[in-house]
Amino acid sequence: KSVTVFAPATVANVVCGFDVLGFAVNAPGDEVVMRVTDKPGITISKITGDNGRLPMDPAKNTVSVSVKHYLESIGRSDLGLDIELHKKMPIGSGLGSSSASTVAGLFAAKTILGDDRDPIALLPFAMKGEEMACGQGHADNVAPALFGGFVLIRSYEPLDVVRLPHPKDLWCAIVFPDVDVPTREARQIIRKKVDMKDAVTQWGNVAGLVSGLFMQDIDLIGRSMKDVLVEPVRSMLIPGFYQMREMSMELGAVSFGISGSGPSVFAFTRDEATAQKITEKLQSFLEGMKIDSFSYVSTI
Ligand code: HSE
Repeated sequence: KSVTVFAPATVANVVCGFDVLGFAVNAPGDEVVMRVTDKPGITISKITGDNGRLPMDPAKNTVSVSVKHYLESIGRSDLGLDIELHKKMPIGSGLGSSSASTVAGLFAAKTILGDDRDPIALLPFAMKGEEMACGQGHADNVAPALFGGFVLIRSYEPLDVVRLPHPKDLWCAIVFPDVDVPTREARQIIRKKVDMKDAVTQWGNVAGLVSGLFMQDIDLIGRSMKDVLVEPVRSMLIPGFYQMREMSMELGAVSFGISGSGPSVFAFTRDEATAQKITEKLQSFLEGMKIDSFSYVSTI
């Protein structure tokens, strides 16, 4: 028996919602092919698209470790599973690359086992994978990778995840400048304490964004996507961040910000053509700075 599962890239934080908001795009994403084997235990037979960066050792790979925890939780450690992982997006890009792989692996195992519980049952195991990948088990990449669309992590303890609606005509332009910003380090540099004044601004914006999603009000979504807590620090790690924002807004973006912990940036637009124009402009700007880049245009 064999199954193939795709899981999408995700944009965590959505500017103002650090660790509590995220959404999935249609593409890119990762693919896991999983087969039942005769011998108990998990093996990884193949990884493609990672330039040899990911461990083939099942004790060290986030996909196999998460699947192992899941099998243990349902008393099926007797099962033999082989994993092929096909990475179809850059690693360390701020697009939830490890989350997409982990979610695809967990979903494949769930399907093979005929476990018909709600996919939310997989979330704690996917979060374990995040903890392994970057030191903390945040859920704002794995939850949208699992459910699709927009997701709010209302609470971590206890875990309370809310799926949110979004306007149909919202497009997303993503540009990945190929510079190194490891999530683990991007989490270490942010401030541990915040001023009440900043907190008030931030929760006003989070509430505004969530309201805008429910009301299908793209203007409200746009003016709520401001971050006074994390972006001012993390933007320093992204070359030309504020210039890229200005260029995107001039071309008609609804909003612009860092995707997850960066270095990818994203803009919301009302149509595909504007998203396309933004990716072209930002990529040629990065090229001028001798920085390689990839771009994606997607609906949500
Ligand atoms: N919320 C996490 C962070 C997402 O910003 O560190 C990491 O992709």
